[in-house]
Amino acid sequence: MNSQFLNLGLQPLANEYLQKFKEKQKKYHLKVFFNNRNKLVSISKRISSKKMFNNKYPYKSSMSKTMKDSFKKLSNEINKRFKPNLLLEIGSNDGALMKNFKKNKIIGVEPCSNLSKITNDKGFTTYNDYWNLDLAKKIRKKKGKVDLIYSANTLTHISDLKSVFKSIDFLLVKSGILIIEDPSLLECIKKNSYDQFYNEHIYLFSALALKNIIKKFNLEIFDIKNLKTHGGSLRYYIKKKDNNNIKISKNVVKQINIEIKFGLNKISTYKNFAKKVKKSKKELKNILTKLKKNNKKIIGYGATAKATTILNYCNIDSKLIEFFLDTTPDKMNKFMPGKNIKILKYNQNFLHNYDYAYLGAWNFKDEILKKEMKFRKIGGKFITHVPYPKIF
Ligand code: TYD
Repeated sequence: MNSQFLNLGLQPLANEYLQKFKEKQKKYHLKVFFNNRNKLVSISKRISSKKMFNNKYPYKSSMSKTMKDSFKKLSNEINKRFKPNLLLEIGSNDGALMKNFKKNKIIGVEPCSNLSKITNDKGFTTYNDYWNLDLAKKIRKKKGKVDLIYSANTLTHISDLKSVFKSIDFLLVKSGILIIEDPSLLECIKKNSYDQFYNEHIYLFSALALKNIIKKFNLEIFDIKNLKTHGGSLRYYIKKKDNNNIKISKNVVKQINIEIKFGLNKISTYKNFAKKVKKSKKELKNILTKLKKNNKKIIGYGATAKATTILNYCNIDSKLIEFFLDTTPDKMNKFMPGKNIKILKYNQNFLHNYDYAYLGAWNFKDEILKKEMKFRKIGGKFITHVPYPKIF
């Protein structure tokens, strides 16, 4: 049974950065639910993938050093630990992982044509399509089964999980490995980072829920790693249930026990979280309003999809945050979805004109603080809402 625990109001598509500010950008209800049976947390309104993942998708994995480093490290691990002859990446984005492999050893799947073009142009076979059984059949016919499937921050964006895992089981060899990584529900609740919820993030996985879901598709988790990426993610290593050659690591039970101890199996935990979210909204708004009253200049740092949730839920517009700065070319000179805040090309000197920078990309805090030492030296301060609204 699904119980609603959080209502984040009306929200535009989180990655629909506008060329011109439009008062009437389409908005959707964003409500979050907990399923008491399989322990899965999901949002209510499912928007068609075609609307969200098309030829204009602005997010690029290679934009951040943290992500590039993480993919490089993982590629080395995949080669050493699993030695796949052929691997497939679902949601290959701009090829941040693919480029670490030989062109004949990796296949990409990427529905956003602006992104699949990047890797295809470099000679990496990339299917410009949505992940489902039809595509898995097409690939199997052309290339045969694959040894390893990897997917980061993608499977939680696909509504039909049954189709997702059925297609994976279909394309993997019997001894095949599935590695997926996504933001961790536990970290989200702990950090009160409710901006992990937006229309693209249909699910926020926990080990607990994932275990329940994949068992119906002949799959089981055999190892788990905690990652720092995207504000705290989990990397799940999954095998076919009937493959007895791989031992199940203690990390799996350990993670599930931590989650249960924290209460991820109980609706009361989520109701508590929702109370904290409401408090966070009030406090963030207070901080910004007070600073503005004192004539302080505030800019946004990192025009993330996550920030769209914050701006629209907390009703923050350009009267409070004048501009956002971002390094992604496709976001520049556009507007934050739903709110009239212009995104400017990142420029360090321009940042130095501001007293405060609201950290939209709080998940890259370490990388950003290192880069912006001078801003803080000359008196600049950051504002964040994670784990609670504060100035630092
Ligand atoms: P990210 O948090 O990965 O994604 P999401 O949109 O899914 O919430 O996006 C990080 C954004 O922050 C991306 O648009 C690039 C930007 N950014 C900067 O502008 N400067 C930086 O130093 C870093 C690390 C990121």
